[in-house]
Amino acid sequence: MKICKTIDDARKTIAEMRKGGKTVGFVPTMGALHEGHAGLIRAARNECGIVVVSIFVNPAQFGPKEDYAKYPSPFKADCRVCEREGADVVFTTTPEEMYPAGYETYVVQERLTKALCGKSRPTHFRGVLTVVLKLFNIVAPDAAYFGQKDAQQVIVIKRMAADLNLPVRIVTIPVSREADGLAMSSRNAYLSPEERRAATCLYEALCRAREMVAGGERDAAKVRSEMRRVIEGRKSARIDYVELVDPRNLEGIDRISGDTLIAVAVHVGGTRLIDNLCLTRDGKDILC
Ligand code: PAJ
Repeated sequence: MKICKTIDDARKTIAEMRKGGKTVGFVPTMGALHEGHAGLIRAARNECGIVVVSIFVNPAQFGPKEDYAKYPSPFKADCRVCEREGADVVFTTTPEEMYPAGYETYVVQERLTKALCGKSRPTHFRGVLTVVLKLFNIVAPDAAYFGQKDAQQVIVIKRMAADLNLPVRIVTIPVSREADGLAMSSRNAYLSPEERRAATCLYEALCRAREMVAGGERDAAKVRSEMRRVIEGRKSARIDYVELVDPRNLEGIDRISGDTLIAVAVHVGGTRLIDNLCLTRDGKDILC
């Protein structure tokens, strides 16, 4: 496995490796890799000739009061995960190389980025889309792998790829969960033992919603209020949002009549956690 620490090295290394027509699968990450990331790397490994993983904590997607400065960066352990999962290239670089003095170009999406997480994180998706487009231009992947865990992220990236005619296939991978259902996340490391126990309320609320939809409930407000009840039962949990939306446009729905994205964001202690289920009208799990 080759570790590339500059954009130029990554470009040259990947160009050399792809000679002979090998396809390139790309897994963008911010590091602190866990089993969720490993699943993305495995999917890329199964489908592509070359697997590239990027590790870059992207300052442009963090708000001023968010956790950029304390985001974990265990680079050596991350490289071991990449190696174990069969990655060919790890690309990492510095904020100074990605955003040098004078940098001023960003990708802005008009509508999808204003819903769900965009309400409390107004500049987040501008930062995500910008860095993902830059990474695509550096790695030139045939396919790129993203987790359903960040459903809105996949949806906005698919929209960007379609709108800007990017020659890359965007693949969605299911959420990896801990044994008690908590979605794996680098931010779970911030939770105290008591908060870690409370954090299961996101998945409990989602499972309750799935049960209701599978049982024929069609009233989104009823599902929402039952989910809020489940989450509010934990004293360290504070809801940012509980929403049922149409996964095609992220607009809120009143009646459950087709595919529905049920998404939650909850502060547990000082840590903001997100999770979601995307369901058919019969309550079957699907991917965004
Ligand atoms: P990061 O949070 O490191 O996540 C990298 C990828 O792993 C994302 O596609 C995310 O959805 C996926 N992932 C995280 N936890 C997962 C889980 N429990 N199950 C399945 N997939 C999971 O998302 C980002 O980084 C950044 O925004 C990035 C796209 C790299 C741009 O900076």
